[in-house]
Amino acid sequence: MAQYSGLSRAQLTFDYLHTNSTTHEFLFGALAELVDNARDAAATKIHVYTVPKKEVRGGYLLCFLDDGEGMDPGEAASVIQFGKSSKRAVDSQMIGQYGNGLKSGSMRIGKDFILFTKKRNTKSIVFLSRTFHQEEKIDEVIVPLPSWDMDSNRPIAKSAKQQEKYLTEIDIITKYSPFKSEKEIHEQFDKIDGESGTLVIIYHMMLLDNGEPELDVTTNSVDILMANVDKDDDSVPPEKRSFRAYTAVLYIEPRMKIYINGSKVCTRRLASCLYKPKMYKYSSNRFKTRSEKEAAKAYHEAQMAEEKARDAESKARDLQNKVGPVAPKDQRVALRQAQAQAEMLRNDADIKKEVAETKKRSLKEPKVLNFVFGMNIEKRKLDGMFIYNCSRLIRMYECVGPQTEGGVNCSGVLGFVDVPYLVLEPTHNKQNFADAKEYRHLLRAMGDYLVQYWKDVGIAQQGVTKFWENFGYLSPNWKDDPSEDPKFKRKRAMQLPLTIQCDQCLKWRTLPFSASNINKEFPETWNCNMNPDTQRNRCSAAEVKQNIPQGFLKKESRTAEEKSQKLLDSVSKPTPRLDLPPPVRQAAMRRSSQDTSAQQRRASTEERAPPQRTKSTPSSHRRDSIEASPQRQATKTSPVKRQSSAPTSTSTRADSARKETKAPPPPPKAKPPPPKAVPEPKAYPAKVSVSDKEEEEEEMEVTQNGVPENGTPENGVDADSEDIGKKVEAKIDGTWYSGEVVATNSKGAGPVRWKVKFDKYPRDKYDKW
Ligand SMILES: Nc1ncnc2c1ncn2[C@@H]1O[C@H](COP(=O)(O)OP(=O)(O)O)[C@@H](O)[C@H]1O
Ligand SMILES: [Mg+2]
Ligand SMILES: [Zn+2]
Repeated sequence: MAQYSGLSRAQLTFDYLHTNSTTHEFLFGALAELVDNARDAAATKIHVYTVPKKEVRGGYLLCFLDDGEGMDPGEAASVIQFGKSSKRAVDSQMIGQYGNGLKSGSMRIGKDFILFTKKRNTKSIVFLSRTFHQEEKIDEVIVPLPSWDMDSNRPIAKSAKQQEKYLTEIDIITKYSPFKSEKEIHEQFDKIDGESGTLVIIYHMMLLDNGEPELDVTTNSVDILMANVDKDDDSVPPEKRSFRAYTAVLYIEPRMKIYINGSKVCTRRLASCLYKPKMYKYSSNRFKTRSEKEAAKAYHEAQMAEEKARDAESKARDLQNKVGPVAPKDQRVALRQAQAQAEMLRNDADIKKEVAETKKRSLKEPKVLNFVFGMNIEKRKLDGMFIYNCSRLIRMYECVGPQTEGGVNCSGVLGFVDVPYLVLEPTHNKQNFADAKEYRHLLRAMGDYLVQYWKDVGIAQQGVTKFWENFGYLSPNWKDDPSEDPKFKRKRAMQLPLTIQCDQCLKWRTLPFSASNINKEFPETWNCNMNPDTQRNRCSAAEVKQNIPQGFLKKESRTAEEKSQKLLDSVSKPTPRLDLPPPVRQAAMRRSSQDTSAQQRRASTEERAPPQRTKSTPSSHRRDSIEASPQRQATKTSPVKRQSSAPTSTSTRADSARKETKAPPPPPKAKPPPPKAVPEPKAYPAKVSVSDKEEEEEEMEVTQNGVPENGTPENGVDADSEDIGKKVEAKIDGTWYSGEVVATNSKGAGPVRWKVKFDKYPRDKYDKW
């Protein structure tokens, strides 16, 4: 230890390095910290690549090379000041602000990192190695920080003491890093080919229990995959298993080029991937309150800094007056120190003053968030909100409003919003928001606007099934991908004009539709010159601003929502007790694992209900739900195709249900109206294709067992029924209503009945038989 007494120390203990790394539960979030830093350093490109290396744990080095502004030796030294970032003060557009991302991120990925950086004729290294600390049993965090003059390659170490320090640092680096000589070290600097830039190399990867590295860099040579996610597991969205997919959406307006193992990431501009996009402006008094608080805080900080600076300046002046030109050396040293201190504090005060003024000015700016929604016609199962904070992705696939209920209502809608720091700040790992309450409030607001969007696009009116069928979603399973039939591919492509980023000027260009573009691979180096649109085929041509039609939240839609929510909350009628069968849970949780409020609500409603009241009589069960064993009564023995028969009476029942709910509670209709009067049937997403057979079997049961009025749900509830989770739709007075089967009694005697929970209707009386 003694031999390291001259080296730089991070002001913390070794254990902290580990604790610090655990903030990143989401491993790609840790990698993203390094990408963020490149972006903050104004890099135009970052290369993320791996280098096979047998000697290190995991067998490869993970490297992040950017062409940003780099760091001089002083700035490199400040990298190890944990928790201190100058970024926020200077530019609120920067992503880093907690001064910890590099350390927490890299220490989450691997055990050690070495950073090479070039700036203004200097080269510097920051070497943070836990292996070194462990091997040498060091508690403090010692960070070798050698630096060189770029031209001569000579160490920047003037005094003998500095030279000694330099030699010790090189010893440590060549012993514990993958680079075993000064020559190898300089070869790394050569990878930064411009005037400035930074290369971070992480090694000794974290391993899974099976001994494999957490990041799989071999399965796909141009991607980095989560090793513990089965690549065929469709329940995990691409952004959570492929680093390429994640980085494609990491920034709301991608400008920096990202390469993974040499292959460029085709960044996605979300708004260009949505069908029928609409933008809604959202404002809240809460924003104003928060920004006032922020401005007051900044003003206070600026005042304090000003006082400190003045104090230090007057001290320095006093000293100057006392210390004459021929004063002894120690007095002159003290004077110089006082002057330096005063200058530093003056600088700090100036920055804080500027920040305070900016915040004061921003008080006057209207604080409005833009919610953008659109249909994900490429992959409807991927829906929910993408929440960005100061352009950087924080949350993805966050289901809001009706989406949390798992029905078809608002499903398939993707949305996004970019929230400024003034409104919300992220947690340290940038995977969530610090103020959970404010964040929930934001999600609720998005839910309200989503309902409005759903109304505005009128999909419910035209029929949800029909809408999706139109784009090739022919499978009964909601999660299935759309048909690859050229007809449908063309349909989808026509609605989503191809938007591509120029490799040179980084402007986005929307190409005129051409059937030949479908499935076409565009070269990585695609640039404006290749644009068939002659108006925009030069880099100098301005980027066309995306014109997203604006929508407005109509007051009544919000109140309707609130009303139905209230009704829901105050359901007074006891409903049958029914333990939620697992498939229901799955269906309800098919997206956001976070937001289970709807499910909880459902579960609690059911728990509240006394067990004895169940599907007792036909009159009670028909009232508010669809019984979708339809047609059964009408054509008991007929082997007709279910596709058309099932929904037939579905709609009929729902029809009666609706009428009855409107004027509650009128006596239920004893019989469904004749099939003639029935609109085209829909089962949604029609698992009904399977039901052809299924329901014939059910039919048989009915025939065999007769139709007893079994009273208890236990007696007949089929918790494993495949029908559970099935999306159904019913047309009532010309409007389609969607819902989901939450229970069936197919195991018991009697007609098979589906207990359907409607997405929107009848909210106040759902969960009835
Ligand atoms: N790739 C990079 N290029 C230039 N400077 C960097 C880079 N990575 C890190 N830094 C410097 O290191 C500091 C610490 O980084 P980090 O721990 O991520 O905290 P933060 O980004 O919040 O400031 C940054 O403020 C920046 O000055
Ligand atoms: Mg950072
Ligand atoms: Zn261009």
